[in-house]
Amino acid sequence: MDISHDLSRVKGKTILITGGASGFGAAFSARWASAGAIVIIGDINPSGEEVAARIRQETQNSNVHFIQLDVTSWTSQVNYFRESVRLSPHGGIDAVVANAGINDARESKAFEKPDADYLNDPNPPAPTFNTLDINITGVMYTVHLALFFLPRNPGSEHCESESVNESGRDRHILLLGSVASLHPLMTQTPYTVSKHGVLGLFRCLRISAPVDAGIRVNIICPYYTDSPFMQAPVRGFLAGVPLGKIDDVVDAASYLVADTSCIGRSLVTGPKLPSTELTGANEQEGPIWECYLHDWEPADVFTRRMLTAVHAGIKVRGWAGWAYDMAGALTWPVRQWWNSKPQEKPRRD
Ligand SMILES: NC(=O)c1ccc[n+]([C@@H]2O[C@H](COP(=O)([O-])OP(=O)(O)OC[C@H]3O[C@@H](n4cnc5c(N)ncnc54)[C@H](O)[C@@H]3O)[C@@H](O)[C@H]2O)c1
Repeated sequence: MDISHDLSRVKGKTILITGGASGFGAAFSARWASAGAIVIIGDINPSGEEVAARIRQETQNSNVHFIQLDVTSWTSQVNYFRESVRLSPHGGIDAVVANAGINDARESKAFEKPDADYLNDPNPPAPTFNTLDINITGVMYTVHLALFFLPRNPGSEHCESESVNESGRDRHILLLGSVASLHPLMTQTPYTVSKHGVLGLFRCLRISAPVDAGIRVNIICPYYTDSPFMQAPVRGFLAGVPLGKIDDVVDAASYLVADTSCIGRSLVTGPKLPSTELTGANEQEGPIWECYLHDWEPADVFTRRMLTAVHAGIKVRGWAGWAYDMAGALTWPVRQWWNSKPQEKPRRD
């Protein structure tokens, strides 16, 4: 698919990247810093300081910062956002990339093969769920704070799908899903659950955040990609199969960050595939595809009937129905108050 974009549009934008000390996050930071963005890396690993210093030196951009962040800690996240606003030359945040994530193989195994004595142990240990803590709770904290700070970005406007915003200011949340958002990764249950959750977050917010707060929300779902994230057993299991390239993930992310008319877009990245494996056509496919464009289209009988019924209902009720609902909504607090009053009991004598 065509993801051509003008990278100079990220110049001057303040972009927060969680998990920016390694892999995709470090590569996003380097690419966008080279184009003049203000990049604020948040990572639990203090090596993020060296990564930021290296990028500053290589790009001659002094606006690359590191703040130590544990995404599972609410106070750490609040501190990250507040410090970022302080570091931002225009006092606001243009984009937040919720990228930090793990896949803990030992945790997956321990979950599926319980080896504690839950029958007799007087204090059986609870299973640990670091993967969910980081990939779900951490992402929810990041996104919750982004929903607060992005609309307060000075000079930013509601996102607009028809045109590219020329002001230079933005309100953008970019989520990192995975192919594990789209299909199950057998033996990697907590990771699959977490990335399905991130997709659910995207599918809700892609509609409501632009309407409610003018924030655009996009997601990238990478296939197995050659980053430090890929552990030896998985690499071994995939031997002989091409992996995705970090550069392609960065291209997809740069397109979504630079082009402010991208709203509610979901991109899958992976290796380039020979045509026959996908379509039979005599051309290469990939490395970037679009998915989940059709959430609200009448794809199956149930959805089609449901949408038809909703539209018919709206038509039949018309303005009268709308006025009735509105009057009900406005009088609702009074009715609640009235119903909550202790009622007089009928006397029996
Ligand atoms: N590499 C892949 O094959 C692949 C495929 C699909 C999706 N992803 C997703 O992309 C994202 C980035 O992956 P990557 O390949 O760059 O991995 P990576 O391991 O190279 O980087 C992840 C970063 O997150 C940081 N991190 C971990 N726990 C943290 C915490 N509690 N607080 C703050 N930071 C924390 C790590 O220190 C690390 O710097 C992840 O969400 C991952 O699930 C990766």
